[in-house]
Amino acid sequence: MTLDFYQFRDKASKDIDIDLSSYKMKRVKRRINSLMDRHNIKDYDHCLEMLKTDREFKKAFLSHFTINTSEFFRNPKNFKYLQEEVFPKLINKKKKIKIWSAACSDGSEPYTLAIMLNELNVKPRNFEIQATDIDNEILRTAKKGIYNENSIKKVDSKIVNKYFSKKDDKYILDPKIKRRINFKQHNLLKDSYGSGWDLILCRNVFIYFTKEIKDEITQKLSNALDKDGYLFLGNTEYLLNPSKYDLDKEFASFYKRSK
Ligand SMILES: C[S@@+](CC[C@H](N)C(=O)[O-])C[C@H]1O[C@@H](n2cnc3c(N)ncnc32)[C@H](O)[C@@H]1O
Repeated sequence: MTLDFYQFRDKASKDIDIDLSSYKMKRVKRRINSLMDRHNIKDYDHCLEMLKTDREFKKAFLSHFTINTSEFFRNPKNFKYLQEEVFPKLINKKKKIKIWSAACSDGSEPYTLAIMLNELNVKPRNFEIQATDIDNEILRTAKKGIYNENSIKKVDSKIVNKYFSKKDDKYILDPKIKRRINFKQHNLLKDSYGSGWDLILCRNVFIYFTKEIKDEITQKLSNALDKDGYLFLGNTEYLLNPSKYDLDKEFASFYKRSK
């Protein structure tokens, strides 16, 4: 058997339980080929065999494929808007705010939310933050709550001193903040989105998906929001026609569910 790239992609999708055809093909191909080079794998047949038989390779394949870059308060202007405009509205309206950080990576994003709510004196019983990612490995890192300087470079030094303790070159998050996040594995391509969310963050993951899949996911995210709930996207992830998804653009990367 000599597999071409597309045959490999479809077979590998079954082995790793991620539909690779939903991702932008050029990027998938580039990343798979670079991993094969690194492991001295000559063809797709061999690569598939390795995926099936070598657990360590499968792990490397998955982490090479999912880019986990994140940081606390990524795109500060948007987080300022969240803290000053969105959270106060939600706090006034709801007894308990339901928040979902989808594709949360190493936890910097959901922990940023918990820090902000603490700064706004919102009691833990008045909010719930669910944080999900497809990558179990990164979720394990997230649960540890230990970060490098790079992760906190956008954070005000007062906040760093208040919420992190420093050990050697690591920043250890306050356990009180850590406890406020409920992490779980979730695949945006096939798992259920739930309903009644007041705020969903789905940031810097659309860039990897095809246009059709991005469209489908946007509709599902919108449907999962409560009326007047917010969808908070990444800085470069604009919706050209938000009304198509029953969303109104409110500010920069914030969209509000209109019905
Ligand atoms: C660049 S990180 C974004 C992290 C964070 N949202 C931020 O903006 O800083 C992209 C994340 O998307 C996750 N991801 C990729 N495909 C996914 C899928 N199908 N379902 C859920 N998460 C996925 C990756 O594992 C990775 O952690």
